[in-house]
Amino acid sequence: MPVTVPSASDSSEQARRPAHGTIAAMTDDLALATASAPSNVTASPPATASPPAAASPPATAGADAPGAAARSAARDSAFVRACHREPVPHTPVWFMRQAGRALPEYRALRQGTEMLQACTTPDLVTEITLQPVRRYGVDAAIFFSDIVVPLKAVGVELDIVPGVGPVVAQPFRTEADLDRLPALTPEHVPYITESVRALTSELGATPLIGFAGAPFTLASYLVEGGPSKNHAATKALMYGRPDLWSALLDRLATITLGFLRVQVDAGVSAVQLFDSWVGALPAADYRAYVQPHSARVLAAVADVPRIHFGVGTGELLHDMGQAGADVVGVDWRVPLADAVRRIGPDKAVQGNLDPTLVFAPHDVVARKVRETLESGRAAEGHVFNLGHGVLPETDPDALLRVVELVHAGL
Ligand code: CP3
Repeated sequence: MPVTVPSASDSSEQARRPAHGTIAAMTDDLALATASAPSNVTASPPATASPPAAASPPATAGADAPGAAARSAARDSAFVRACHREPVPHTPVWFMRQAGRALPEYRALRQGTEMLQACTTPDLVTEITLQPVRRYGVDAAIFFSDIVVPLKAVGVELDIVPGVGPVVAQPFRTEADLDRLPALTPEHVPYITESVRALTSELGATPLIGFAGAPFTLASYLVEGGPSKNHAATKALMYGRPDLWSALLDRLATITLGFLRVQVDAGVSAVQLFDSWVGALPAADYRAYVQPHSARVLAAVADVPRIHFGVGTGELLHDMGQAGADVVGVDWRVPLADAVRRIGPDKAVQGNLDPTLVFAPHDVVARKVRETLESGRAAEGHVFNLGHGVLPETDPDALLRVVELVHAGL
């Protein structure tokens, strides 16, 4: 069946907490109750040649699995505990896109280095990942990379254009294009293994979150050739050529789970599968065309907590949880207590302060943080986050205040 494809482009974790301000001091007291191995994040220069974390793994089944020793140091952190829906000393908080353009130290380090070059240079990956942990005292680091890194690694010609996003040289069109999407093996991404090992060694008890783009969102970049508002070409392929669509998502799921496996085997404590643009679909089509592929990815990394997130996914929250998430990410449009009802039992939630709210006066921010924490109490586990990524214009001090408020439970 022919398909008309429109053209692209419509478009010890607590030790390193900053010790200034009374709220930070209060949270340090709280945190001492669960302090485990000390962390040296604040003091150390970026490490690239350090040995893996020296912590001895607990004598439980699976402790010998690759990455398990590095993970054990962060097992008792507030973030990992919340993902497992266990009691926490304070609600853990981190920010999507916490590493990046909102930070002057990031911009300074990136001077003269292209984004994809930075993602394949372990010294830079390590340092950029640590920058927001030092500055904000967040409860988790997110690995510095991009969702298109695995596609580039298997040979897809693409670039990340500043101010635009990922741009693919030859958009996906036919069966023949499937050949450009081979499975990803650890040999494709030695810099990922090296960076994760250096980071877990450096972070100690602070968990490192690995991530990947979900098949639908990756397919959107591949089919559109770049960022898209309406995902028209993507949907034309999905509805018009369901056989080819399924083959494409199958390839992308294999690449994505390979990419996540590398990160888990190297020692990340949790993974987040970003399906940023899947909110473009109604629930029935999500279940028919997307969920089985995302489920295959999530099933392949069941040895760590799995966070699954998309933007505008209020109607999909239940089904995204059922794809195999332990933690469902919620954007700012749905109050967490409502999200909990939609998602159902046995899941934690992550979210969901509007990323633009940090531009509001401090008293408004404080009120919204409090409302978010209160709403999140409906969940069996709550990881505080923004409802989408940090905007580049964000004042880092505003995020620091959010962290302090969340930790103080105010
Ligand atoms: O969260 C973090 O701090 C870790 C790093 C991270 C990046 N991209 C670095 C990055 C993560 C988790 C991502 C994921 C990502 N990339 C997603 C899913 C998350 C989301 O926001 O929905 C998506 C859709 C992409 C694709 C992508 N890459 C976009 C839309 C952009 C921004 C384009 C722009 O310049 O406005 C990128 C580039 C990118 N990825 C940057 C960073 C820090 C900016 C590039 C730069 O600093 O030069």
